[in-house]
Amino acid sequence: MRRPVIAGNWKMYKTQEETRAFFAAFKPLVPATPDCDVIVAPPFTSLAAAAAAAHGSSITIAAQNAYWEREGAFTGEISVRMIADAGGKAVLIGHSERRQFFGETDETVLKKTKAALAAGLTPIVCIGEKLAEYQAGKTQHVCETQFLAGSNSLTPEEFSRILLAYEPVWAIGTGHTATPEIATAVHKFLRSCAAARFSESLAASLRILYGGSVKPDNIKGLMAQEELDGVLVGGASLDPKSFASIVKDWPR
Ligand code: 13P
Repeated sequence: MRRPVIAGNWKMYKTQEETRAFFAAFKPLVPATPDCDVIVAPPFTSLAAAAAAAHGSSITIAAQNAYWEREGAFTGEISVRMIADAGGKAVLIGHSERRQFFGETDETVLKKTKAALAAGLTPIVCIGEKLAEYQAGKTQHVCETQFLAGSNSLTPEEFSRILLAYEPVWAIGTGHTATPEIATAVHKFLRSCAAARFSESLAASLRILYGGSVKPDNIKGLMAQEELDGVLVGGASLDPKSFASIVKDWPR
């Protein structure tokens, strides 16, 4: 009942020309009407090029970050309105790399989420524990804290429009994917947090993606888990063939 989502986060990779080359190769490799939502998140400078290249397909373009103010003296920042203007329909918020390297907090995640929702963008809110937290058995505590603070003050209607991405930091870019069982346990836990905070029915329709070293060769094990509603792919989304094979292998 939950439509799967396969999202690619390009991080700080690809110029405009490389973006156009990606879509020229990727589009013919995926079905015109795939059984899942396909999202690509290029860097800001390639957003418009990606939106133009994806035009006429069912691929959604997302930004990787946003600022919550409408406009103003905020050097280096990009507003949700600018993202929409460039053709973006969704935005990653609170990615662990932003939390780790750029001072993102649960409070800024909430502000960005609300701004994105107000602009009609789909926020893809990212949460996940660090290696030391995982080893100390604090996964649930960290995920619950990030989830509650990041969704605090959202109305049920607003909450129904977000996507949640569970990305254990120790699995990102390391080649150490969480096992399907580990990811499933956290997704179940997050769904129970959503039920407690909002309602059973909103929790049941919440789409939760897994991210962290998702590759064409481990996608089948992940997709076998009912609790996983899709994936957020980093490195393997840069290559049109590998990302297309993840898209094609997902539908159950
Ligand atoms: P990798 O797939 O490269 O581990 O990156 C995951 C990620 O951070 C997606 O947002």
